[in-house]
Amino acid sequence: MELDRSQATLRGKRLVLGVTGSIASYKAVSLLRALTREGASVAVVMTQAATKFVTPLTFEVLSGERVTMDLFKAHQEMKHLSIPGQANAIIVAPATANFLAKAAVGLADDVLSTMLLTTQCPLIIAPAMDGDMWAHPTVVEHVRTLRARGAVILDPEEGPLASGQVAQGRLASESRILEAVQSALIPQDDWRGQRVLVSAGPTQEAIDPVRFISNRSSGKMGYAIAEAARDRGAEVVLVTGPTALTPPPGVEVVSVTTAKEMADALCQHFASSTVVIMAAAVADFRPKEQAAQKLKKRGQTAFSLELETAPDILAMLSAQRTSQVLVGFAAETEHLVSHAKDKLRGKGLDLIVANDVTKEGAGFGSDDNAVVILSRTGQQKEFGLMPKRRLADEILTAVQKLRSAQHRSATVVE
Ligand code: CTP
Repeated sequence: MELDRSQATLRGKRLVLGVTGSIASYKAVSLLRALTREGASVAVVMTQAATKFVTPLTFEVLSGERVTMDLFKAHQEMKHLSIPGQANAIIVAPATANFLAKAAVGLADDVLSTMLLTTQCPLIIAPAMDGDMWAHPTVVEHVRTLRARGAVILDPEEGPLASGQVAQGRLASESRILEAVQSALIPQDDWRGQRVLVSAGPTQEAIDPVRFISNRSSGKMGYAIAEAARDRGAEVVLVTGPTALTPPPGVEVVSVTTAKEMADALCQHFASSTVVIMAAAVADFRPKEQAAQKLKKRGQTAFSLELETAPDILAMLSAQRTSQVLVGFAAETEHLVSHAKDKLRGKGLDLIVANDVTKEGAGFGSDDNAVVILSRTGQQKEFGLMPKRRLADEILTAVQKLRSAQHRSATVVE
C-alpha cells in the first residue's frame, strides 16, 4: 500500500541528520523514519563514534542514500559543502557533550562539525548524556553559547539513564524533535493581519551636551518580540531607544533618544496598530532643564540636579486606546507579582510581563529571561529561564490566547 503523502509536513525539505556516538544513537534510526514519513529527504552524517553503536547500513537502507562519515573522502567529493549547502535544516540527534563543545567553539575535525561551519541554515540539536555531564558548567556554557547564536537546543528529558542514574539526560522524545523541525521550517502565520507596535531599549535624557540619564536596558527583549511577530506574519513597527543591536530585517524601525520622542513616535503609530508591546525601559524622570554647554565643576564638592517626571507612555496610550491590546513590562527588584499587578491595573493593560531583574542570567543585557505573565483576567503563568527569542513567542502566544478569549466572550454576548 502506498503512503498518503498529501499531509506530509516536510514535503520537499532537504535535511541533514547528524548522529553522534551515544547509547541513544539507535533512536536516530526511528527519528530518520519519522522525518522521511513526513516527506523530507535526509542525508545522514555519522561521527566515527556513532558507527560503534549503529551500523551505517541501517541508515543507508532507510534513507536510500549513502551515509557520510569520512572527513577526507567527504573533502574529495566536496560533500562538506554540497550536503549542507542544499539543506533546509541540520538536526543533530543524539548530540554528545563533545559535539556541543566542538560546535560552540567552531572545531572542525570531522565531517559533521565541519558542515556546521559551511552553512547558516537552522540547527536543531537534541543532546543526550549522563545527568552530571548535562549539569556541568562547561556544558551549560556551550549550550548557552549555541542558543545565543540561534541554535534550537532541546533540553534532554529526565528519566533512567544508561549509567543507572535517574537524571536529566535522556534524548528528547521523537515528537519533540519532529515538532522543533516543523516549527523551524514551516512558516507560522498566526499573526498575519496584525499590526504590532513594539518599543525597545532605554531612553536617554540629556543633562548637558555630553551627559545623560539612562538605564541598563539592552533592547534584546523588544528586538526579539519584533522578530518573532514578523516571523509569525505580522506587520511590525519597532520604536527603539539607543542600542547596540541590529534591527531585524522586514521591520519598520523608528529610532528615538528621549522619552518624549518615544512617546511621540508611539502615539503616531498607535491608531493603526492592533497590539502594542512596551518592552522599552523609559525614563521616569528627566532633568528639568538641559544645560546648553557642558556643566563645569568649578571647585564644587556637591551638585544637585532638579528632575521632573517624564511622560508615562503606557498610561497615555491606554487613555487613547480604541481596540488595541496593550502589553507592558514590569522590571522589578522585589515583590515581583504584587508590583506587576499594580502596574497592570494602574496603567490599564491587558497583559504584563514581570521580570525580576536581579535574577542571575535574566534581565538587563542577558540573552535569557525568566518572567511571570499576568493578565487582566487574572491568569498568571511563570516561565523559567529561556532565550529571549523563545520567550518572545510565548508572549505572543499569551496575547493570542487573550484575544481569542475576548473574541469568544464577545460572540456569546452578541
Ligand atoms: N513605561 C512607560 N513610560 C514610562 C515608564 C515606563 O510607558 N515613563 C512602561 C514601560 O515600558 C513598561 C511599564 O511601563 O512597559 C512598566 O515600566 P517600569 O519601569 O517597570 O515601571 P514604572 O511605571 O516606571 O514604575 P516604577 O519605576 O515605579 O517601578
